[in-house]
Amino acid sequence: MKIYLLPFYLLIGLSASLHVNADQPNPGEVISTMEKLNGVTPGARRNHIIGICASGSFVGSKLLNKYTSSALFSGKEIPVVTRFSLAGGNPKATDTTKSPRGLAIEFKLNKNSFQHFTMLNVPVFGASTPQTFLDSMVANLPDSETGKPNPQKQKEFRDTHPDAKALSEFMATHNPPVSYANSEFFSVHTFKFINSKNQATLVRWRFEPVAGVKRLNDEEIKNMPARFLDEDLTNRAKDGPISWNMIVTIGNPEDEQNDPTVYWPKERIEIKAGVLTLNTVSPQDGGPCEKINFDPLVMAAGIRPTNDPVLLFRSPAYATSYAKRVTGN
Ligand code: HEM
Repeated sequence: MKIYLLPFYLLIGLSASLHVNADQPNPGEVISTMEKLNGVTPGARRNHIIGICASGSFVGSKLLNKYTSSALFSGKEIPVVTRFSLAGGNPKATDTTKSPRGLAIEFKLNKNSFQHFTMLNVPVFGASTPQTFLDSMVANLPDSETGKPNPQKQKEFRDTHPDAKALSEFMATHNPPVSYANSEFFSVHTFKFINSKNQATLVRWRFEPVAGVKRLNDEEIKNMPARFLDEDLTNRAKDGPISWNMIVTIGNPEDEQNDPTVYWPKERIEIKAGVLTLNTVSPQDGGPCEKINFDPLVMAAGIRPTNDPVLLFRSPAYATSYAKRVTGN
């Protein structure tokens, strides 16, 4: 019998379930709906099932010390394990699918201290609450008679959930990237930076590819192989390091902090906060990212969550998926 030691951040994740209040769905119900939608691949993630690992380092700028005491911005090189992924739990989905892509980063600050960023290549999310997220999956479940989602239910979902609109508008006008190395990634949620005087500043961040943002056009999408993003990243890493600049946006106190479907005004201070450099890429099976639970609430000193209900719900949902997959279910 194999005995699995669950990492400490899974325990943090479970404790975060205390944040889930009674008018929200149960994380177990959300995960079982993902399983109804996509089936179960034993040992695999229930969402973002397709992915690839990459490792390297991050060097943060001391300019950020004014806003946060996070060790991320010490100026020292911090080892990272990352995972690029395709949103959704369908193991057969191809890289040409018009859906969000993910970049999850685990920063190893020191022996026992980690910071996670678990981002998407879209600036806004498709739900302001966990209930909308669940309702959207239910609306896309296959109809028992046709075996396909019912267009009427999908329309009803759109008509009754205006908070899904910002993301669907973004997706309608933005194709998948030509390469992960040409994709930007966004925090989507608002976080709080806490400085040494215990002052809080609202922030959002994004990672901008040094190679520039490039997306496929409609013609190119038709001709791309199923796993072109993974193949491209593997080949690029052989030619040299791949980098992103981290840009932090400093919010005003009145800026939206609890709704990840709302854009911030454009006129905000932006600071180049560091550089992420990746040099080793490996398949997820047996790779360094496979057994990580990229729970976004794994945070070290200097960064705190807001009360965004989606952000707080992610932790127990990821813990539920992680507990299943790490035990081979
Ligand atoms: C209610 C909302 C959400 C739910 C229920 C949810 C659920 C999940 C689950 C169950 C996983 C797999 C966890 C694992 O087995 O390790 C996952 C992965 C992921 N999610 Fe979410 N998610 C939500 C919102 C978001 C948002 C807002 C973002 C980005 C801002 C995001 C980005 C990702 C990424 C990048 C991964 C892949 C992480 C990895 O590489 O391991 N998710 N999500």
